[in-house]
Amino acid sequence: QAQAIILGIETSCDETAASIVVRDQTGRGTIRSNVVRSQLDEHAAFGGVVPELAARAHVEWLDHIIAQAIDEAGIGLNEVDAVAATAGPGLIGGVLVGLTTAKALAASLGKPLIAVNHLEGHALTARLTDGVKFPYLMLLVSGGHSQFVLVRGVGDYERWGGTIDDALGEAFDKVAKLLSLGHPGGPAVEKIAQRGDPKRFRFPKPLLREERLDFSFSGLKTAVRLQTEALAPLTDQDVADIAASFQETVAQIVGYRAHQALERFAAQFPGEPIRLVVAGGVAANKRIAEALRVPSEEFGAELIVPPIALCTDNGAMIAWAGAERLALGDMDNLSVAARPRWPL
Ligand code: KG4
Ligand code: ZN
Repeated sequence: QAQAIILGIETSCDETAASIVVRDQTGRGTIRSNVVRSQLDEHAAFGGVVPELAARAHVEWLDHIIAQAIDEAGIGLNEVDAVAATAGPGLIGGVLVGLTTAKALAASLGKPLIAVNHLEGHALTARLTDGVKFPYLMLLVSGGHSQFVLVRGVGDYERWGGTIDDALGEAFDKVAKLLSLGHPGGPAVEKIAQRGDPKRFRFPKPLLREERLDFSFSGLKTAVRLQTEALAPLTDQDVADIAASFQETVAQIVGYRAHQALERFAAQFPGEPIRLVVAGGVAANKRIAEALRVPSEEFGAELIVPPIALCTDNGAMIAWAGAERLALGDMDNLSVAARPRWPL
């Protein structure tokens, strides 16, 4: 297998990102550049991502971000061996910007195009950062997704459960909004929770009595809203206590589900090393990481949390997924379509 230099493009949500990743003959990956421009400022006034604004910002910035990624990698555009871009799932306007740009580059360079499923990008990142071997279990917890995925190989995924309503990061963001903590809410909730009493409020753990590996966070969010309304006007201590109690509840839910998922993995792959990979922005949360450490230790599982800059949306994860697919000869036609929904 020859060395391959891959350009990766990510535009499915509110980061405009491009990266150069090199996959060497032995299959190891190196990140040569990883440029991410977050659109937080554009959306700040609206308390969430506005799709039309996101698409326009991607149009405005993507060319510059790609040029910077090429430049920082110290290569010329014509040295790129393949162009990979997120083709879904995500906000369709943004996905179209990235995918169309990738098609134009691939066509003009005469190099292959790889249309990457954003979730596959998250799923394979741990192989870039930690060289993790198949099979492994992935827990993806971001602003848009919350799911367990069994990763058996490149292109070989099995969804073991996910959220039936809000994503976990979304729940953090909504609670932060209720508590007037700003956007994005996850880091703000975690920070203020440090000063709070996690035992002051008992919030519900929806769905937890059921066996299936699914999540539901919208009832929890409603309970937080009712508590907030009952206490209004909130003191600073109330805010901290609500944040801490919410975070504690969520950590217990995630820890419990991880325990079940590891149990299932162990049963399905007897004798195999057990590995749990975490991806998505919520992986930055210390309490949640701790809640995953406990069941991992119990099952003797290796817990792999890539560096947080690679857990959140970025171009390197797309470039790497492209590199893995390229190595298998799995490329796409220039007519490949962008997909707002695209389960793994
Ligand atoms: O993966 P990501 O950057 O973007 C996507 O949603 O794809 O994840 C962002 C989400 C946001 O909902 C944010 O509030 C949450 O991750 N998040 C956190 C923390 N840092 C980011 N949630 C809880 N605790 C954190 N420290
Ligand atoms: Zn993502």
